Order: sequence, then structure tokens, then C-alpha cells
Amino acid sequence: MIQLFHVYKYYRKDFLALNDLNLKIEKGEFVFVIGSSGAGKSTLLKLLFCQERADEGQILIGGQNVSRIQEARIPYIRRKIGFVFQDFKLIQRKTVFENVALPLVISGISRSDIKKRVNEVLKMVRIEHKHDQRPSFLSGGEQQRVAIARALVNRPAILLADEPTGNLDDELSLDIVELLRNIHTTGTTVVVATHDRHLFSKILRRTLVLQQGKIVSDGLPE
Ligand SMILES: Nc1ncnc2c1ncn2[C@@H]1O[C@H](COP(=O)(O)OP(=O)(O)O)[C@@H](O)[C@H]1O
Ligand SMILES: [Mg+2]
Repeated sequence: MIQLFHVYKYYRKDFLALNDLNLKIEKGEFVFVIGSSGAGKSTLLKLLFCQERADEGQILIGGQNVSRIQEARIPYIRRKIGFVFQDFKLIQRKTVFENVALPLVISGISRSDIKKRVNEVLKMVRIEHKHDQRPSFLSGGEQQRVAIARALVNRPAILLADEPTGNLDDELSLDIVELLRNIHTTGTTVVVATHDRHLFSKILRRTLVLQQGKIVSDGLPE
């Protein structure tokens, strides 16, 4: 599903953010990417989302080499990938329903299908009762559930989450991770970057540890 071969990423000429990453994530895996601030977690997710380019090496996503992909092809890759951000990135002047519908509106899907699919994902993240509210009236945990619904509405094969619980307290964080795990059981490949120990110590899953741009361990945590 996701493969990296000798991937390097520089910021400026001399700053190496990712240093020779080799990695294989199978379809349907749930993986944590951990490491202290500055280790390169976000950079790795951005490369997978084609938001940044690798300077060297190859990245395969669903068998497609995205390392040298043309700009015009990126939206097609992104349709396969949902992305969840720490700060939710919801549009404040739109309702919950409209926020979640947006990726489908852009894809040109019919209104009746949009309604059906949005209601489906809102139900999945247990926020359907707030569909006509604006994000600012929702708690942080609820806003993140809306953002997850938006990331899922296109039925992506891969869900990437960058510090999805960074703005939430411990209890809500576990709730969000439970939700991500439920999503994983439906067959979605899920990659969660976090520096939140509370989170990955509670859930034993494959964990990649990044340190200064290198993978220093990969497997089940002790
Ligand atoms: N756009 C950028 N320009 C220059 N340096 C950057 C940029 N983005 C990230 N970095 C640097 O790359 C390193 C890795 O950053 P990042 O991937 O955000 O780490 P993490 O998500 O693990 O905190 C950090 O030292 C950061 O300062
Ligand atoms: Mg980060």
C-alpha cells in the first residue's frame, strides 16, 4: 500500500529532515509514527499526501510512484487519502454538514448521494445530531470528529492523522483514537503521527519511532 525506498527530504540546502527512510505499510495496517518535536513526523505525512516532495528516493502509494508525480496528477492521489490535522481546519462559516460535504461537492457527486454519504459518516463519528451547527459551537473533540468525517467521506484507502489529539485532553484523545481504530477495522490503512505518550502507550500497535529524520525502531512497543 505504502512503500518508501531511501527517501531523503531537505529543507533548504543543508537541513536534512528525513534521512534515508525505508518503510513498508501494508494495506489495512494501523501504524503510529512517534518521536519528539522536530523528528520529521509531519514531513513524512506531507510526503505521503504529496504536499512536499522527496529530494531523493521513491515513494509508492497503492503501487503508484508519487515521488516524481506531475502536479496535475496530485488530486487523483489525494482522493485515495484522507488527512486529519491537529487544528481540525474546519471552515467556520459553513455548517458541520457543509464542511463534510465539501470534498464530495468538489468531486461533482450528485446532491442525493452527497446527502446519503455525509449522513453516513456523520453517524459513524456520532455527530449527526449537530449537522446544522457551525464548528465554533462544538467542543474540540466534536470538531475533530467532524474533521475525521470530512477526511472519510471520499472513502479513502488511507487515512493520515497528524497529531489528531494535540488540541484535546486525555479522555477525548482516547475517544478519537478509538474512533480511528474503528475506522481501521473497516479496512482503511491508518497512519497516526503523535508525540502523545498517553496515546500510544495505551494502544499496542506497530509503532515507528523517528529521531532526527531517521527510523530508529519499528514494531510493537515494549
Ligand atoms: N517548511 C519548512 N522549512 C524549513 N524547515 C522545516 C520546514 N518544515 C519542517 N522543518 C524542519 O524540519 C524538521 C522536521 O519537522 P517536522 O516534520 O514538522 O517534525 P515533527 O512533525 O516531528 O515535529 C524540524 O526541524 C523542522 O523545523
Ligand atoms: Mg508535526
